[in-house]
Amino acid sequence: MDERILRGRVLRFLRRPEGVGDTAAFELFDDGAVHVRDGLIAWVGDFAQAPAGIAVTDHRPHLITAGFIDAHIHFPQGQITASWGAQLLDWLNTYTFPAETAFADPAHAARMATAFYDLLLRNGTTTASAFCSVHPASVEAYFAEGQKRGMRMLGGKVLMDRNAPAALLDTPQTAHDDSAALIARWHGRGRALYAISPRFALTSTPAQMEAAGALIAAHPECHVQTHLSENTDEIALACALYPEARGYLDIYDRYGMLGPKALLGHAIHLTEAERDRIAETGSHAVHCPTSNFFLGSGLFDEAALAARGATSAIATDIGAGMSWSMLRTGGAAYAVAQLQKRSLDPFTAFWWITRGNAEVLGLADRIGTLQPGSEADLVVLNSHATPDLALRMEAARDLKDELFALLILGDDRVVAETYVAGKASKPA
Ligand code: GUN
Ligand code: FE
Repeated sequence: MDERILRGRVLRFLRRPEGVGDTAAFELFDDGAVHVRDGLIAWVGDFAQAPAGIAVTDHRPHLITAGFIDAHIHFPQGQITASWGAQLLDWLNTYTFPAETAFADPAHAARMATAFYDLLLRNGTTTASAFCSVHPASVEAYFAEGQKRGMRMLGGKVLMDRNAPAALLDTPQTAHDDSAALIARWHGRGRALYAISPRFALTSTPAQMEAAGALIAAHPECHVQTHLSENTDEIALACALYPEARGYLDIYDRYGMLGPKALLGHAIHLTEAERDRIAETGSHAVHCPTSNFFLGSGLFDEAALAARGATSAIATDIGAGMSWSMLRTGGAAYAVAQLQKRSLDPFTAFWWITRGNAEVLGLADRIGTLQPGSEADLVVLNSHATPDLALRMEAARDLKDELFALLILGDDRVVAETYVAGKASKPA
């Protein structure tokens, strides 16, 4: 038996907070303990009540929370972050597609996988859902490295058979067959989960969307991820390519892509009817705030979806995203909400990057909650890690101030440790 007690200020969420005063939405153990055993959380509570005779790692005075979850990221785009001067469609053609072409090479994909996972763990991210490149070799590298690190990871090969360089195109048949083979090989192997990933309407022919729909119907155990209504030029092109559809979302609807396992990246420029349909089908939008700033795409309206009962995830969208940090991403979501005359509260933001994303992914029984029986993926946060944080913390009055400072000023530097299945895993 492999067990350990982690001592620190333990914070876990029980449900979505309804504002800064909603203290019943979370538990804080000021001198708390997380008992991890064989990769799972055995117990959480006050350190004084923790079982005796077990080795203790003392993280006081740091905060211990569930590991962060990034619900939308691109594995092959680590080298095109901070690429200057383009909005979505130009950015894809100028930077993204050339970078993804290199992932046909297994050696390149493996080297990039090492860097990718190092960056996730450095930033406290213990689960992510990634788009790989069109090449099965990229999926192999992605899941093999995830397995090596023992992480719960979602992902899949992008399906794309038009409007991209020839080296990045599959066909309806190979998209289907390669994905099916990858599902058989990886879904449920260790902690890996496969996400069927038609890139977006612009890069798939109707025949390929048909094949994607068949794959999705045959694999209800898999997630589905794509991009939706990120950019106004993109929407116009999507509607031109699918003239029979009533709108962008309807393209995906027609091919059976919507449902509780569907993750719709960006989903910025939506009609009322589209928001209703997302809620009705139980689909989820994914807020990518730093990416939407970076590409000038627009402001995601979480409140409008929530008002209809739709729950949304939040994500970096690296390489268009401006940071690998889910703290920074939560801070950016605050800025987006401010532009909409709302103030996202720090408890809700922290819930979102942990339990909230786990709920959207349908994985809250396994990750994101710090509940006994769930997987011991945790992050240890030092709220005094940098001079600006230390200065701010001198005047912080409560947990709200501390969490907010971490969201606005924090990044990988505040991550003192990252635990994956109970094992300290932050790269040196
Ligand atoms: N839409 C289709 N592909 C992509 C991508 O790689 N990044 C972003 N931000 N949007 C996309
Ligand atoms: Fe994306």
